[in-house]
Amino acid sequence: MGLPPYRNEPYLDWSDEENVEKMRAALKKVGERLGESYPLIIGGKPVETEGEIVSVNPADPPQVVGRVGRATEREADRALEAATRAFEWWSRSDPEARARILLKASAIMKRRRFELLAWEVYEGGKPWAEADAQVAEAIDFLEYYAREMLRLKDGKEVYSVAGEESRYFYQPLGVGVIIAPWNFPTAILTGMSSAAIVTGNTIVMKPSEYTSVIGAQVADIFREAGLPEGVCNFCPGYGSEIGDYLVSDPRTRFISFTGSMRTGLRINELAARQRPAQRWIKRVIAEMGGKDAMIVDASADLESAAQDLIISAYGYAGQKCSAASRAIIHQDVYDEVLQKVVEKARALNVGAPESPEVFVGPVISEPQFEKVTGYIEIGKGEGERVLGEDPNSPEKGYFIPPTVYAEVDPRARIAQEEIFGPVLSVIRARDFDEALRIANDSPYGLTGGVYSGDREHLERARHEFKAGNLYFNRKITGALVGVQPFGGFDMSGTDSKAGGPDYLPLHMQAKTVVERF
Ligand code: SER
Repeated sequence: MGLPPYRNEPYLDWSDEENVEKMRAALKKVGERLGESYPLIIGGKPVETEGEIVSVNPADPPQVVGRVGRATEREADRALEAATRAFEWWSRSDPEARARILLKASAIMKRRRFELLAWEVYEGGKPWAEADAQVAEAIDFLEYYAREMLRLKDGKEVYSVAGEESRYFYQPLGVGVIIAPWNFPTAILTGMSSAAIVTGNTIVMKPSEYTSVIGAQVADIFREAGLPEGVCNFCPGYGSEIGDYLVSDPRTRFISFTGSMRTGLRINELAARQRPAQRWIKRVIAEMGGKDAMIVDASADLESAAQDLIISAYGYAGQKCSAASRAIIHQDVYDEVLQKVVEKARALNVGAPESPEVFVGPVISEPQFEKVTGYIEIGKGEGERVLGEDPNSPEKGYFIPPTVYAEVDPRARIAQEEIFGPVLSVIRARDFDEALRIANDSPYGLTGGVYSGDREHLERARHEFKAGNLYFNRKITGALVGVQPFGGFDMSGTDSKAGGPDYLPLHMQAKTVVERF
């Protein structure tokens, strides 16, 4: 297949009035479709359910974005059955043809870009630039994994002994259960699903209950791209109602999960148990949480450090597993950096994402609002709140202002537990050694950053900082597909490195065939 070389999809320029106009038009058009219903799609057929998921706009909770089918174990069973049947022939399909479906899906996403952004705004509460980065990332996943499949389709080189031929190649695994998060509802759902499909597996696709309308758009794009019936079974539902069932069922061959540490560990445990009639060890690909730290060294460019800290801490209201939630600052520059961080964070535009200027939108849901405000309360006993006030009541939207706690003890709860909201804990370090020790004192190990002008310190951090994605002198969020493969150490998951060269093989089994002549 003659494809142009891979390149990341460029972001939209919001200083271009034409893009702003197109976005406003898309918001209006999608606005007219709010409240529509979306059934499950199993074996290519719509399936109505008794219950429904009512998805709302987090910036305006009375506004219903859509009503989505709510699977019970009965529908989950049908979805697994459809995926099992489809695997018989899809697993033998031509890898090039599968890659082509991803390329087609990418082309559809490019054409429907503004519409997809509008869904992100309504259902995800995403500011425009965040929504755009996410749809660009979804396009990147499709383009990258299509090319990765072409690279891997004939296997890899191995040596042969004289008189024999050794071949080493990959085969699909089976039925995958895709359990996706709400924070990157287009990108991560598309990435996890497309990787599973292009490698010849069939899937049961469960989007988050908070972003199931976006999930329905992604499933529909795969259908429009020509994905045959039964390969992707759209099965929205509550994790508490169908999650265990899908993970435990003996037909499930692998689980691809992105979400909290708690749920990830539960999946890992359930998947490890062999059920009657189960013939394999289930594989778990898990991307879990983070408590990501940025160290600011005495020699750093303090202005840039403060700027990248607030982008990393408050982008999408801190609802990223990659978000900076701990700033560890060398004592010599602590006061200056703190002051800059507070000034810049105070200036951030908070509100409903109605224009490109809004930087901090709402958090996703009432439970999330409660969780984050709970940590803001805890923080009052653990540090000095130098920015932020108690949020308004959630009925008017789940808005939480950027919050900074200073002089936080590295062992405090707000310095150890994942908050997943716009709350930054600022910690003072005596020297670089101590800063590194504090950064590594976490069960997580997802992203991390060092701002420093000291070569020796950077080289030490390169090897000693416990993080799957470590960034020097820049922001620590927004990993680019194919450029910054993404995944974390320890309790952050299986270090599966989405958007990297080792990702697709996780969805396949390697086979060695030797023939003696
Ligand atoms: N990949 C995203 C980032 O790097 C998080 O999931 O921000």
